[in-house]
Amino acid sequence: MASRIVLFQLILLLAAAGPALAADPPGIVPATQAGGDSGSFSAGRGEQLFTTRGRDWSCATCHTADPRNPGRHTVTGKAIAPMAPAVNPERLGDPAKVAKWFRRNCKDVFARECTPQEQGDVIAYLRSLGK
Ligand code: HEC
Repeated sequence: MASRIVLFQLILLLAAAGPALAADPPGIVPATQAGGDSGSFSAGRGEQLFTTRGRDWSCATCHTADPRNPGRHTVTGKAIAPMAPAVNPERLGDPAKVAKWFRRNCKDVFARECTPQEQGDVIAYLRSLGK
């Protein structure tokens, strides 16, 4: 049932976004609306990725190990609003923004892009966090 809902949302999202998203697989990842484990996505794996150090940083370096807290850019010192949608409803609502920052931040942290699976796991993790 849950995977059906995800599939339905995916279709809606694709229909709304058109060919641009079809050419950009990571762009469909935000379709995992449900918090926690849903379909093939795992909040536990997402949490692990979020706190795994790549070259110098992990995601938590800037976003903190508890993404309900405000973060801080480790280089510029600029404040970053909390990542968990439960405390910051503006998060994960704009697929283009989400795709852009996954691309950029995964390259910064792991020197590669995150796979759609990894992105879905992180999103499931962020959505699993309550207030
Ligand atoms: C060097 C600091 C830094 C690191 C490390 C970092 N981020 Fe970010 N992240 C940012 C900044 C800056 C933004 C954009 C500003 C904002 O949205 O508040 C951002 C935004 C995002 C967004 C956009 C969310 C939305 O809907 O607004 C996502 C998703 C994200 N980061 C995921 C990650 C993941 C996953 C990692 C680890 C692979 C990571 N970030 C590591 C600084 C960082």
